[in-house]
Amino acid sequence: MNVRFDPSGPLRGRLAVPADKSISHRAAIVGAMASEPVRIRNYLYAADTRSTLAAVQKLGAIVQPGDEEIVIRGCGLRNAMAAGDVIDVGNAGTLMRLLPGWLSFQQGSSFELDGDDSIRRRPVDRIAQPLSLMGARIEAREGRFPPFTVHGAPLAGIEYELPVASAQVKSCVLLAGLVTDATTVVEPAPSRDHTERMLAAAGAPVEREGDAAGGFRTTVGNADELEPGTIEVPGDPSSAAFLIAAGVLVRDSRLLLERVGVNWTRAGFLRILERMGAIVLADLEEPGTFAAAEPVADIDVRNAPIEATTVEADEVPLAIDELPLVALLGCFADGDTVVRGAGELRVKESDRIATVVDGLRGLGAVIEALPDGFVVTGTGGLRGGRIDAHGDHRLALLGAVAGLASEDGVEVVGMEAADVSYPGFVDDVARLVA
Ligand code: S3P
Repeated sequence: MNVRFDPSGPLRGRLAVPADKSISHRAAIVGAMASEPVRIRNYLYAADTRSTLAAVQKLGAIVQPGDEEIVIRGCGLRNAMAAGDVIDVGNAGTLMRLLPGWLSFQQGSSFELDGDDSIRRRPVDRIAQPLSLMGARIEAREGRFPPFTVHGAPLAGIEYELPVASAQVKSCVLLAGLVTDATTVVEPAPSRDHTERMLAAAGAPVEREGDAAGGFRTTVGNADELEPGTIEVPGDPSSAAFLIAAGVLVRDSRLLLERVGVNWTRAGFLRILERMGAIVLADLEEPGTFAAAEPVADIDVRNAPIEATTVEADEVPLAIDELPLVALLGCFADGDTVVRGAGELRVKESDRIATVVDGLRGLGAVIEALPDGFVVTGTGGLRGGRIDAHGDHRLALLGAVAGLASEDGVEVVGMEAADVSYPGFVDDVARLVA
């Protein structure tokens, strides 16, 4: 589906963005691992997180959807049921990398996971390696791609140093660690910590040492049962980021995005914007905080001129999904905006260095790819044109925001990709522009 986004009048008013995708995936998985019913308020109904509900149902959990909340009646930690056939993760990398953490200790059972064309290009050796060290067996196509099979086994605790800062890999190992005496994950730099928070809230023993500057050591140990009770999912800061960027770039805009998650491990984009001189006000969580609760705040955004900035490796995991937007903002900023140390972008839903650089260049941007990032030379605006989403939701949304702020408008080829995380984007923009 091709959708045209014309240069927009001011975006004004209040809006609640869709629920957090990362936290919704985790809530459904942790709900399935619990023995008592778990209530989830504000679960994200989008393609990715529907895949997670379907997956946990296949494993024996009962999902009762409702308007205000869904209830998951789980299987208990060690009682996932044989899936019968392949578990289809669709386009959801988080589901594909987290679920095996649970499946790896279902002794005597095997589970095959597969997904769409994009998922088949995304590596799973990064989870197969630590899970194998713990005692599980993983068989993957060419040793590293889906489809792959997880053979459950008794697990032993490990101390695992992550080769890349990845919240998905960290989460997978921590979930598997719930049946070991102690399992520690050492991160090279902090990444989103929703799994640790949710496990702590569910009564699992979780300890974190370290600091925001250097990264953390997180240890979990044996949990007989998980009791998360009610999980409240905040608005997704990564979805909010698209409207924030539109509010910053489109002349005379003023927006309030309500009840957005402001966990500091997700707030990198807001800090980058602050450096760029954008007027975005929010009560952010103190970096380094570790609490069971997920903080929320309203985010107040105004249109204002912006300056270029540099994003280095340590900041990358805290803004990983928003880096395409940093490239777009760079087109409008004064100076050269540089992102480095972000090679992980190459293994997202698309190769986001290639698709962002080619896509924005096609709209008139002055942008060069680096092996691990990009350099954008601000020209004060963007002409517009046509951009292909390449089946990547964040690319589709990037093209849409580019169109709103452009001179000639942008046609997004494959806008339906946005349904993975933000199905109502077009309607939300229409409400704000009206
Ligand atoms: C996610 C972690 C990030 C992010 C992805 C969601 C998560 O991936 O890009 O969209 O929910 O844990 P990595 O952990 O692989 O960097």
